[in-house]
Amino acid sequence: MRRVGVILDDFDPFRFDHLNLANAAKEAHGLEKLIFVPLPLPEKKEKSQNHARIDQRYRMCMIGLMGQNSMEMIPYGLVYQAESALSLIRKIRRAYTDAKCFFILSAQALLRLASQPQFKGVRDSAFICWRTPDFKADDILSALMREGLDISVADVPGGLMADRDCRRQIAALVDPDWMDRREIAYIASEGAYLPDGKKQLKKMLTTHRWEHSLGVQQVSIRLALTYGGNILKVSQAALYHDCAKCMTVKEMRRIAEAHHLTASAEVLHSGALLHGPVGAVIAKEQFSVTDAEVLDAIRFHTTGRENMTLTDLIVFMADAIEPNREDYDGLERIRALSRVSLRDAALCSLYTTKKFVSSRGREYDEQGLKTIAWLEGTLNEQEKEWMKDIAKPI
Ligand SMILES: [Fe+2]
Ligand SMILES: [Fe+2]
Repeated sequence: MRRVGVILDDFDPFRFDHLNLANAAKEAHGLEKLIFVPLPLPEKKEKSQNHARIDQRYRMCMIGLMGQNSMEMIPYGLVYQAESALSLIRKIRRAYTDAKCFFILSAQALLRLASQPQFKGVRDSAFICWRTPDFKADDILSALMREGLDISVADVPGGLMADRDCRRQIAALVDPDWMDRREIAYIASEGAYLPDGKKQLKKMLTTHRWEHSLGVQQVSIRLALTYGGNILKVSQAALYHDCAKCMTVKEMRRIAEAHHLTASAEVLHSGALLHGPVGAVIAKEQFSVTDAEVLDAIRFHTTGRENMTLTDLIVFMADAIEPNREDYDGLERIRALSRVSLRDAALCSLYTTKKFVSSRGREYDEQGLKTIAWLEGTLNEQEKEWMKDIAKPI
């Protein structure tokens, strides 16, 4: 008879720990196949921003299982959302009559199931359970084993992180190294586990600006994947980068003066220059963004700055090249460059803006000039030659 492991968990979120657990169970029990079943959460949690929805957890699981041999998902938790875990176990047993199923779940989850009257219908199943650091009911587990339940304990090398700690790290925008980066990109794009500011932000922007912001977010996530940036940080900075853009200059000026953002009369009278620094204030005060790196990327997204961080550079570039951008001279060249060098693309983008501002008979912003000087200072002699050539037509 085939031996199949069925992992039942919240997977909130899915992470490498779950693969380690699956492999440990596979090895210890000679399992041929592992089936992952994300379970629906209680309704209140399912709707809470601190948790991911069942469809999102399925998607995360799917991403996490990409390229894994003999591991797959079945959609029972998604299709039978209203049903209990015990009911799902019964359904899975019926669907795999030709196999011996080993139900793999946390010790807490097993004890919860075992305390329900309907458990008697599945008590002849084989169970493999793992203990989380806060598990304190070894005596109950042993008692169930003495009663004849087929329970093995899986010890995962290095132990499992607590779900709550994973969610907290994501909410704090810590770049998780315990999860596939494609999954982080999905989480960032969905805004799962993060404060939900999208509805409020949409109300503050025109349709055009809203679509641009979403475009910048998607491109930022892609660039962070390419260049190894913090996906969660760039995604947040990109989403809110233009949050002040649709305010009147008068309103921006009021906020700038109240927060002593600048003493420059020129900046105080320019919406183009003010909306970055004012946006950082709005992001902090109205959207609860507290991360300094994210706030800086918002603050300097139009002009850049000396010693730009990778987060700054990614948001700056995504702003210039996102797909909804109206065409401008040099756009395709800048897009092409952004695939191989953020610095070169940023320089070309700044040259373009400088040229545009000069063509209108205005002085280019002082901060923008400093950024250009800083970026040029990082070029070696050969790169300076290339750059002259590349930037010439722009
Ligand atoms: Fe902007
Ligand atoms: Fe923008």
